[in-house]
Amino acid sequence: MQQTIISKNKESFVFRELNENDAKRLGNFFSMLTSDTRAKFGPHPLTPEYAEKLCSSIDTTKTIRFIVENSFEVVGYFIIDFTPFENEVNRYLSYGTNIDSKIDPVFAPCIADKYQNCGIASQVMTMIIDYAASKNIRSLVLMGGTQESNLLARAFYNKFGFVEYGTFFTEFNNVDMRLCFADTQK
Ligand SMILES: CC(C)(COP(=O)(O)OP(=O)(O)OC[C@H]1O[C@@H](n2cnc3c(N)ncnc32)[C@H](O)[C@@H]1OP(=O)(O)O)[C@@H](O)C(=O)NCCC(=O)NCCS
Repeated sequence: MQQTIISKNKESFVFRELNENDAKRLGNFFSMLTSDTRAKFGPHPLTPEYAEKLCSSIDTTKTIRFIVENSFEVVGYFIIDFTPFENEVNRYLSYGTNIDSKIDPVFAPCIADKYQNCGIASQVMTMIIDYAASKNIRSLVLMGGTQESNLLARAFYNKFGFVEYGTFFTEFNNVDMRLCFADTQK
């Protein structure tokens, strides 16, 4: 799967699955993320070493990772993870909703700072939604929710039909959001 993306300022990018040759580029992408973005996106260590580890242990039955790139660099990274994370399962149970990680994986997106708000993830999202449908995924659950103050992300998720299920507090308020593809939100 490889698809073209054109940003709002008419730059062209490719969206594709991560592969074992991407370690260096992905590591550079992680290294370049600012503290502001790291404060909002922290699914795992964002280091070149961790990029090596990810690229040398790809197992798409467990986790699917996508990147957006141009000829110079990776500018976006998207995770769909089928691991049953106890925190997520328990929080959703507290909202009266059973999530099953085999069909309700967690989802986490990140765009490089200088490319944020250029329409890139919006185009990726339509591709991810098609991909999810083709894999019989029932819903995407936001990994760790999103920070209540992250207005861009919340507007972005709302635009694609993610629904807010509840809030929880870490050092700040977070909002649990989930996008259902079936006609039920249970
Ligand atoms: C959240 C993120 C993945 C979105 O990707 P993106 O490529 O920047 O998003 P897009 O440009 O496609 O869309 C952003 C939308 O938010 C809107 N937006 C921007 N700033 C906003 C604000 N302050 N309030 C409300 N909406 C806002 C934009 O208008 C745009 O919608 P539109 O295209 O309908 O006009 C990306 O910004 C990012 O990685 N941010 C840092 C890390 C992060 O927050 N990850 C998510 C953790 S839950």
